Amino acid sequence: MNEIYRKLLECRDCVRQKTDFVPKVAIVLGSGLGDYADGIKVECEVPYGDIKGFPVSTVPGHAGRFLFGYIDNVPVVCMKGRVHYYEGYPVNDVVLPARLMHLLGAKILFLTNAAGGVNTSFHAGDLMLIRDHIAIFAPNPLIGPNIDELGTRFPDMSAVYDRALQEIIRNAARANGIFLQEGVYTQLTGPSFESPADIRALRALGTDAVGMSTVVEAIAAKHAGMRVCGVSCICNLAAGMTDAPLTHEEVQEAADRAAPNFKRLVTESVKMMADL
Ligand code: HPA
Repeated sequence: MNEIYRKLLECRDCVRQKTDFVPKVAIVLGSGLGDYADGIKVECEVPYGDIKGFPVSTVPGHAGRFLFGYIDNVPVVCMKGRVHYYEGYPVNDVVLPARLMHLLGAKILFLTNAAGGVNTSFHAGDLMLIRDHIAIFAPNPLIGPNIDELGTRFPDMSAVYDRALQEIIRNAARANGIFLQEGVYTQLTGPSFESPADIRALRALGTDAVGMSTVVEAIAAKHAGMRVCGVSCICNLAAGMTDAPLTHEEVQEAADRAAPNFKRLVTESVKMMADL
């Protein structure tokens, strides 16, 4: 059996020894959304450290565990904290959690992240519905022997972000008076922030927001047949767009400020996914 798949099954068995909860929606919480748990009726928590072989994050603010529970009547699993490629994990470990949530039963993957705004009409604090992504600067998580148990060798990526889910998120934003930008998210490896020339290049390529996560998870999830959606919190304008240098603290603070709207958008969107 494929080694990556074997490890995935071991992780699944580990979680299944602790809970038989079957989630419908899997939610990945990005920077600043760490205390989102308030909105969930939690049934069970599984710290990542309790799952043999599971990648555990080293980034401040990313301490990790799975929360299983309900948002309204929708069974969800929520990842409090994720690992990033720049931490040094192989990309198949970075996408292991998304694949694991798929094996636990989740049909929908809701990705969130903190991002830099590249589109000149964006402002710090805006939320952005991800319509599509640029993956060409990120490591492809499907390199290596194909895991046939999960999906096909050459999966189609022409509609990674599910149209019906996008419409739900738009409607949830509208119904709750939440302003929502839309656009293309590009994942770079990080961990250094971009140079102003990087940002000009990314803008010329059609990038609206830039960050260091999400795309690899979206590709792995799409490969495995999940329906994917995502929202970015624009925490700062990207390098060179203002005079201020970028710091992780600034990103975290901006995410904290945007958190109430971000949380509400996620909650209200997930509620509307009950009938899917
Ligand atoms: N660049 C990359 N990643 C980010 C940024 C940024 O400006 N802000 C938050 N995450």
